[in-house]
Amino acid sequence: MALQKLIVHGGRPLAGSVRISGSKNSALPILAATLLTRETCVINHVPDLSDLNFMLQILSHLGCEVERASGTLQVKAENVKTVAPYDLVRKMRASVCVLGPLLGRAKEATVALPGGCVIGDRPIDLHLRGFEGLGAMVRVEGGDVRLFASQLRGDEINLRGKYGPTVLGTDNIMMAAVLAEGRTVIDGAAAEPEVVDLANFLNKMGAKITGAGTRRIVIDGVPELHGAEHDVIPDRIEAGTFLVAGAMCGTREGVKLRNVQPEHLTAVTDALVTMGYRLAFEPSTITVLPAERASRGITLSTEPYPGFPTDMQAQMCALFCCTEGVGTVTENIFPQRFMHLSELKRMGANARLEGATAILQGVDRLSGAPVMASDLRASAALVLAGLRAEGQTEISRVYHIDRGYENLDDKLIALGAEIERVRA
Ligand code: EPU
Repeated sequence: MALQKLIVHGGRPLAGSVRISGSKNSALPILAATLLTRETCVINHVPDLSDLNFMLQILSHLGCEVERASGTLQVKAENVKTVAPYDLVRKMRASVCVLGPLLGRAKEATVALPGGCVIGDRPIDLHLRGFEGLGAMVRVEGGDVRLFASQLRGDEINLRGKYGPTVLGTDNIMMAAVLAEGRTVIDGAAAEPEVVDLANFLNKMGAKITGAGTRRIVIDGVPELHGAEHDVIPDRIEAGTFLVAGAMCGTREGVKLRNVQPEHLTAVTDALVTMGYRLAFEPSTITVLPAERASRGITLSTEPYPGFPTDMQAQMCALFCCTEGVGTVTENIFPQRFMHLSELKRMGANARLEGATAILQGVDRLSGAPVMASDLRASAALVLAGLRAEGQTEISRVYHIDRGYENLDDKLIALGAEIERVRA
């Protein structure tokens, strides 16, 4: 497809309601988990995103038959191949999450190592340590990771790394361990809602997993898994991004998010309330209303769940440009994830970086400018800044946004934004 850019005409007020899509970061490992059975799996609420399409290409290559009817996918992996080539894998780092299910089912996997990533070095040493703990041989050669095992055996596996727990690493070890012999205990497991969603799906397939959502997950291996149907949870990062859009540009009527799980968003909603915004909660909706007095910058730091998510850090930087006083955010998960700051400065932000801490002094106005999207969440921050800025913001490399936000521009237009998508 031809390269596209977004032209955001800033200063339009937002009001009304928006439906949040299924979670990208849940759907990716859940689709990979369908490799664990020869029976058909039905996955609902899968968002239409390029990252999900990359995953489906990999699954098709590995032998899955995939049928898609809007948000519902039927996947059947009667026989699996175990080699995923670089051409397919390089497009998306999350491709590594086919390693666990292939090892679990076929006792071998060869998957090209994903390359560098603009948000920083993204090693998979913890995944590999976990696979070794289950008895697999691990080799890295010719740019590929090769895993093989005559048998997988459950064991105590510590997945705690220098930057805390690993989300996809926890997913990978769970997916291999469900078909291992005996009991696996993952210590230092990631507790993100997406890990819980995967564990729930695996349990529907016949796995025996307890403790997902805590730092200690216990998996009792079973001989085989069967097909299952599952609804992917709502995307808490898409929701957080719309909350920030409402905070930055919402009218007194407010911006209402439908199809959310408010308990997954506590760190973000607490931050917004501390800043002075008003929020109204119902079981599956949140409405964000403007601050009664001026909203203020606060001090945040990104942490593993239930702490403040790194995937919302860039969007908060955009918000801090438009609030009184100083807002700071320290990035503890991906300390180099600040590509958006230099672009925000081109729009008039008063921002500086000290180590892994962004310091933003609110400004009276942002002004539209041509800017470049660098990664998914950085791009979302630029859209948010563009909505608030005076004049026109042209955001190039829109494909970054399309990797992880389903119809972001259309959803914002429905709330009152003025955005055009044009050929770059
Ligand atoms: N890490 C290691 N060794 C490993 C694995 C991770 O040192 O073997 C480090 C990472 O470098 C990082 C920290 O551990 O410093 C946490 O990384 P994690 O493994 O949890 O990240 P991930 O599983 O690769 C997922 C999301 C990311 C999100 C992070 C953190 C998916 C597909 N991706 O990545 O989402 O930022 O968890 O919450 O679930 C996004 O959606 O924009 C995105 C980047």
